[in-house]
Amino acid sequence: MKIAVLLGGMSEERDVSIASAAQIIPALRNLGHQVFAVDTATGRLNSAQERQLLSGAVAVAPPSDTEIARVRGGALALSPTAFDFRDADVVFLALHGGAGEDGRIQAVLDLAGMAYTGSNHIASAAAMDKELSKRLFRSVGVPTPDWLMAPSTGDAVSVALGWPVVVKPNKQGSTVGLSVVHEAGRLQDAIEEALRFDDEVMLERFIPGREFTVGVLEGVPLPPGEIIAPGEVFDYESKYQTGGAREMFPADIPAAESALIGDYALRAHGVLKLGVYSRVDFRRDNTGAFWCLEANSLPGMTATSLLPQAAKAAGIDFSELLDRICRGAQKKA
Ligand SMILES: Nc1ncnc2c1ncn2[C@@H]1O[C@H](COP(=O)(O)OP(=O)(O)OP(=O)(O)O)[C@@H](O)[C@H]1O
Ligand SMILES: [Mg+2]
Repeated sequence: MKIAVLLGGMSEERDVSIASAAQIIPALRNLGHQVFAVDTATGRLNSAQERQLLSGAVAVAPPSDTEIARVRGGALALSPTAFDFRDADVVFLALHGGAGEDGRIQAVLDLAGMAYTGSNHIASAAAMDKELSKRLFRSVGVPTPDWLMAPSTGDAVSVALGWPVVVKPNKQGSTVGLSVVHEAGRLQDAIEEALRFDDEVMLERFIPGREFTVGVLEGVPLPPGEIIAPGEVFDYESKYQTGGAREMFPADIPAAESALIGDYALRAHGVLKLGVYSRVDFRRDNTGAFWCLEANSLPGMTATSLLPQAAKAAGIDFSELLDRICRGAQKKA
């Protein structure tokens, strides 16, 4: 197959996308596919540009505002013709965050009649919007923590949610712009910080306890994994630096609990109408109740990212996972 791998882009998760692509591209080539890379911010890469871009590691923090502005300043509007990938049989989306994950690029590819991996534009948009997702989770009996949307006040938080409270952009990923606020006096600053990344900000009840994630592949939940982050939350640094967090697949929980979050993950995936694969994130409180935080339509895709680890625990190696994702794209088209 001729595969165009779309990567980079202009979101805060640009570096994470490049890290995913750096592993997806050689793995797809090893499977015998003809692969070329397209940065959705700058266009199709020749092999020297590809080598140079894909050799970097994820930094400890997301790209700065200046760096993002630099990429945006030089950016073209994505179009398969202008970007020279009209000839691909499948477009592999190694993108995370922003236009690559929120349905906009999916809509462009639909208009161009191209087969692409992951979920369609409506499901992608719904999954990117945390508030919309949470309303849908509740409609199918998937528990999700109570929330308010900004603007809000310390008094409203005390009454509706209690402290601490999690403040986050409604449409972001990689824990960018998220803070845990312990007192009313710090609430407005946290809202201001989240507003840098999205015009909608969510205040969510903090769930103490353990953290789990469940991958979904072809309508089947993969074995749950547990994430043990060094800090209060699974932040950007602990997500992408080696040794940042301990990740255990399969999670050490009773079979009944695995089955329960597997079922929640399937319902969350289904109600959002997600496609061939996704990853659904949970917290488990100290009473043993599980709370769904969100679903990711384009989760991290290095060989050691969470979804590939979950697949591996189910006996599906990285190459087979990529192969099944590509086949899913062809079938959908
Ligand atoms: N309500 C909550 N209670 C406790 N911790 C939370 C809560 N919401 C978020 N967190 C912590 O912050 C992390 C990121 O939150 P969330 O998954 O909502 O955002 P994200 O930035 O979209 O993540 P991803 O990188 O998975 O796309 C979670 O993995 C968890 O550690
Ligand atoms: Mg998450």
